[in-house]
Amino acid sequence: MARLKRIKGGFFVTFEGIDGCGKSTQLTLAQDHLAGLGYEVATLREPGSTPTAERIRKLLLDPKARISDVGELLLYEAARAEVTSAEIAPRLKAGLIVLCDRFYDSTTAYQGYGRKLDIKMVKQLHRIAVGSIRPDLTLVVDVDLKTAFSRRGRQLDRLESQSRDFFQRVRRGFLELARQEKTRIKVVDGTPPPTVVFEQVRKHIERKLNRR
Ligand code: TMP
Repeated sequence: MARLKRIKGGFFVTFEGIDGCGKSTQLTLAQDHLAGLGYEVATLREPGSTPTAERIRKLLLDPKARISDVGELLLYEAARAEVTSAEIAPRLKAGLIVLCDRFYDSTTAYQGYGRKLDIKMVKQLHRIAVGSIRPDLTLVVDVDLKTAFSRRGRQLDRLESQSRDFFQRVRRGFLELARQEKTRIKVVDGTPPPTVVFEQVRKHIERKLNRR
């Protein structure tokens, strides 16, 4: 069997957006596409992807759990520290393409903009959690709230149960981050059918990949 392609230093792509935006579908399409091109691809999700981080995820999403805003922030960063050191950093070092369903921009958007915690402090915590790891490309799949809400399941978790205003702030937060970091963060319209959205996603990934 032919050896799978690797990239020196790896290639790290994160998928972001509000709940129901379709980012996980885009990640799966990207995984299939890149594997088809012969790359070695790893897919992860946040919070989660290690036994400890999955336990933290369960707690964070439990509708019955009562967690303070700062506690929530620290739990997301704790889960991130786990997956970054155990899964993301070693795979990038080995030259893999790592696709992650959410990463630190979710914390800036949800806990920073959504919960109105201090953005500067939130970003400082990212650095503590991940060190020098930074996505090469971040795709924000953007949809309006009506579309997002219509795509969610019946059973809402603790985060999904937040108000419309909360999600409006989170959505604006993602778009604001994209304005601030135009080179790294690309916004794609998540409204059309998944294969149409993926054309945009594919273009952004290939453009960045070709520069490596
Ligand atoms: P998921 O539904 O995309 O798997 O993400 C789990 C939930 O956690 C989702 O509602 C977004 C939220 N979240 C945060 O609030 N902060 C974070 O840092 C991350 C990674 C997710």
